[in-house]
Amino acid sequence: MLRARIAGTGKAVPAKVRTNDDLSKMVDTSDEWIAKMTGIRERRILEEGRSTSDLCAEAAKNALAAAEIDARDIDCIIVATISPDMPMPAVAVTVQQKIGAGTCPAFDLSAACAGFIYGISVGEAFIRNGNFKKVLVIGVEVLSRIVDWTDRATCVLFGDGAGAVLMTADPGGVRGVLSTHLFADGSLTEILWQPAGGSREPLTPENLAAKRYFVKMNGREVYKHAVRNMAASARAALEANHATPDDVAWVIGHQANLRILEGVSERVGIPMDRFFLNVDRYGNTSSASVPTALDEAVELGKIKDGDLLLFSALGGGLAWASAAVRW
Ligand code: ACO
Repeated sequence: MLRARIAGTGKAVPAKVRTNDDLSKMVDTSDEWIAKMTGIRERRILEEGRSTSDLCAEAAKNALAAAEIDARDIDCIIVATISPDMPMPAVAVTVQQKIGAGTCPAFDLSAACAGFIYGISVGEAFIRNGNFKKVLVIGVEVLSRIVDWTDRATCVLFGDGAGAVLMTADPGGVRGVLSTHLFADGSLTEILWQPAGGSREPLTPENLAAKRYFVKMNGREVYKHAVRNMAASARAALEANHATPDDVAWVIGHQANLRILEGVSERVGIPMDRFFLNVDRYGNTSSASVPTALDEAVELGKIKDGDLLLFSALGGGLAWASAAVRW
């Protein structure tokens, strides 16, 4: 059977660190509150003068090097993001140029924190259908540019980063993406959104002043739906593969908040020592969260050939997704 295998991973995080103590000088918060409520200690902030596509290109080059594949051989580039360089064109075409990938198809995909899993689902389908043999999927965010740094309810949560995977066609069919499970509920749009800046509320001096172009969130509601739906989609992935919680070597979950992941752990029955965590160092990087965690787990040698991995994420939309991957 033809499967899509993850042949290489890479990531890029900005050098600049913003700690909880730094934040406590900007808004009324504390390291103690943030760490207790979210598990986050610090996050990375992109330097002025650099943008989303710069992080993408760096992560992509690392994934290509790990996969030992030349950029000119990529058949398709998919970038999952809600914080692109600009509304048009797609970040993916800028990435194509920055990495020297020729004229392959390149497009962006918007599913917020679930975006990377949506991306590998699309890439996997392209490969399984025989459309493409090598697909680059990147999850990236520069949330620091769309977060209100005077709003303590949101600004403590987010960070910047990019993670990339190079997916290749594996005719052997044992390793690779086993299944993906995608969900969305548009009735919940307003619990996590960025209301202005699009066609509905174009940028005007009034809504700029009202900060309508920043991320707005009802944290309590998001929390509730995140635990419930990430757990349900993780269970869907187990069921589809006739797997039990004991079969899972690592959960690479969306690094939104340690307490959300603990809730998922309890509901799915997979202990926390099999959840890979980096939320303490990067915060919530939305689309970049799962691929940066995956890359770190690979880099640290945590993941062994044949391991069953479970990806699960939820974010704005609401959109949520899971995937089962045989490494
Ligand atoms: N620092 C200090 N105190 C704060 C802060 C802060 N940054 N933010 C809120 N508080 C205070 C509130 O003012 C409130 O004080 P009060 O009791 O005196 O009124 C108290 O803390 C509790 O506030 P709540 O907003 O009710 O706190 P809650 O228990 O809901 O926790 C949190 C907030 C941590 C954001 C939680 O709702 C959460 O984790 N939600 C999920 C949000 C998330 O992860 N979003 C990311 C995007 S979606 C995703 O990726 C899944």
